[in-house]
Amino acid sequence: MAKIRITLNKEKRRLDVETNETLLEVLRDKLGMKSPKCGCDRGDCGSCAVLLSGKSVRSCLILAIECDGVEITTLEGISQDGMNKLQEAFIEFSSFQCGYCAPGVIISATELLKANPHPSLDEIKEALSGNLCRCTGYTPIFDAILAATKKEK
Ligand code: FES
Ligand code: FES
Repeated sequence: MAKIRITLNKEKRRLDVETNETLLEVLRDKLGMKSPKCGCDRGDCGSCAVLLSGKSVRSCLILAIECDGVEITTLEGISQDGMNKLQEAFIEFSSFQCGYCAPGVIISATELLKANPHPSLDEIKEALSGNLCRCTGYTPIFDAILAATKKEK
């Protein structure tokens, strides 16, 4: 057992973690964050993505003990001040069906739009290449992200 300190969705937290616990396990089971999903638990699907100091990472591949002192943002944190234009666009385009991939997709798209507010379709496809969606065929997801780049907010 080890003590770590993190900033989660702008709130400072201290907690005890087992040395073999993943960040995904700690976020879901100890910190009540239900947006990161466990789709594969081995780095393949992207449904567990969160932002670590602004960079999208797969939380199932990171040990919580490695996160001492870092800033973590989950989808809950992105939505703290209400829905952003990206989330509105996903609703407008009915981009998800089961929604299991949605948190990871939104995290990847958030990272992309921060670095590149007007990406091309190919750049969007590249940014989301690590996010598996088993329902939609991706077109409504890509359409929503493109539409979000044109929205004011
Ligand atoms: S659950 Fe982490 S990548 Fe699939
Ligand atoms: S909407 Fe079902 S996995 Fe993407």
